[in-house]
Amino acid sequence: MCGIVGVVGNRNATDILMQGLEKLEYRGYDSAGIFVANGVNNGRLIKSVGRIADLRSKLGIDVAGSTGIGHTRWATHGPASKENAHPHTSATGRFILVHNGVIENYLAIKEEFLANHEFNGQTDTEIAVHLIGQLVEDGLSVLEAFKKSLHLIEGSYAFALVDSENPDVIYVAKNKSPLLIGVGEGYNMVCSDAMAMIRETSEFMEIHDKELVIVTKDSVSVQDYAGNSLERESYTAELDLSDIGKGTYPYYMLKEIDEQPSVMRKLISAYSDNGQVKVDEAIIKAVQEADRLYIIAAGTSYHAGFAAKNMLEALTNTPVELGIASEWGYNQPLLSQKPLFIFISQSGETADSRQVLVRANEMGIPSLTVTNVPGSTLSREANYTMLLHAGPEIAVASTKAYTAQIATLAFLAKAVGDADGNEKAKAFDLVHELSLVAQSIEATLSEKDSIAEKVEGLLAKTRTAFYIGRGNDYYVAMEASLKLKEISYIQCEGFAAGELKHGTISLIEDGVPVLALISSDEAVAAHTRGNIQEVAARGANVLVIAEEGLARETDDIKVVPVHPYLSAISMVVPTQLVAYYATLQRGLDVDKPRNLAKSVTVE
Ligand code: F6R
Repeated sequence: MCGIVGVVGNRNATDILMQGLEKLEYRGYDSAGIFVANGVNNGRLIKSVGRIADLRSKLGIDVAGSTGIGHTRWATHGPASKENAHPHTSATGRFILVHNGVIENYLAIKEEFLANHEFNGQTDTEIAVHLIGQLVEDGLSVLEAFKKSLHLIEGSYAFALVDSENPDVIYVAKNKSPLLIGVGEGYNMVCSDAMAMIRETSEFMEIHDKELVIVTKDSVSVQDYAGNSLERESYTAELDLSDIGKGTYPYYMLKEIDEQPSVMRKLISAYSDNGQVKVDEAIIKAVQEADRLYIIAAGTSYHAGFAAKNMLEALTNTPVELGIASEWGYNQPLLSQKPLFIFISQSGETADSRQVLVRANEMGIPSLTVTNVPGSTLSREANYTMLLHAGPEIAVASTKAYTAQIATLAFLAKAVGDADGNEKAKAFDLVHELSLVAQSIEATLSEKDSIAEKVEGLLAKTRTAFYIGRGNDYYVAMEASLKLKEISYIQCEGFAAGELKHGTISLIEDGVPVLALISSDEAVAAHTRGNIQEVAARGANVLVIAEEGLARETDDIKVVPVHPYLSAISMVVPTQLVAYYATLQRGLDVDKPRNLAKSVTVE
């Protein structure tokens, strides 16, 4: 979702902004723009709809200077257009602003303070920068005007503001939306995430909600909205530039699918010692003290929660309930006496999840965040964090984060089970089983060509498809269908195999692809086979993905079996490849599906 980058200091701002925006592309956007301050002409503002490459093609040599701000926009208020693209300017053009988030009271502000103003587009951001400009016209200093605006504005925001009359400063503030300061020698930066700045610096400074930061080339001063100075240490991020490159891969998604065996092994070394599972004692205690675990997440992370549910219940002996984060903001069910909230989030920034966490904190409910991004908002604001150790995930379609989420929750379940003396935990050698999972994934990855071939006949032309499965395979079907639809645009549903006949089977007609998943259990497999017969009899084009041992000779993709608690990890990998190849074959950009954002920072 919207991305911000800004720089002030002794560097070529245009280059830094453009490279930063390219690194933010993965978050999802539909237009982009930069402002570069320049003493001679006050600065140049360039915007364009479409890709960063389009923006780049519009830059002339006059777009030069050492202070600038840039933005990738994911449309919320108003369509993707040049007028709505950021940066936005105040009425006189003096102030230039980029914004990530949603200003809830922008119409009220417009009515009350900006009745005579004309606007170029429909964004809430334009109102914010006009407000700042108007307050300065009314006699306030720039800092006072910015502060007063922050008091007036309600909603979520990360702002970076430049005054073209004094471009040695970038004014920054945030509430709910992510923003980081990058600290350099003779220059400082501001950015939505560390990845866009890692080429320039690995030294970062966090900004908390409702803090204002004045950034110059040599200083970063943080204050609260009342003007009190706040001490803030910087930290060194352990990001490696090579982690965020594509290497020789045509797409990040394929690279990330391929990385899954090594992620499983990294998790083994992060969460075990000499074969013994090791998880923070405080986290184990928090689970032991809970009478119910509530997993709150969105999209793929929500599906990972389902895939881990049975294992968590079996090993911790505690009921697990799942919640869709965007629903729980308004529609929270009656909670148990001693709940523990577990947030699963690759990015750690998902606004829907965060709103639930804010409420949980207000209610004093303990919380654990399972995330890929150390220092992310959900990690900082929860009581406990478990990291996914998956390395940066750049492709919009989540793959390695999903499998890492299930594996991380397996370590949690096993650690609690061991501490409780749970018999099932005792019998479950997770470290060994997870190393078998890594091997099973490797075996599937070696079958890429044959999977690509099978997909071609099945999905290259279809408009609709179904995934079906029972038990854990049903949970994998939910994730598999999300993966397929989000990047290939095939309308796909993940269905409990036995439920199809209760209505949805009426959609099955000649040639409709049905992908069936079969793992873990002979008796359950037999039932799924029955459901396959039902759809085949109605003309469905069936592809079966089955664990060896349960597989028949005619099945299409065979997966090396793993422990049933972990079967979602090995069973999902062929479905990731199915989505990848179907998308390639349909001539679409695998890494950047339309309308989607990697980090969903609005509710
Ligand atoms: C789909 C996908 C999304 C995310 C969802 C939550 O491939 O990635 O469904 O899972 O937007 O994001 P996180 O996990 O960052 O909270």
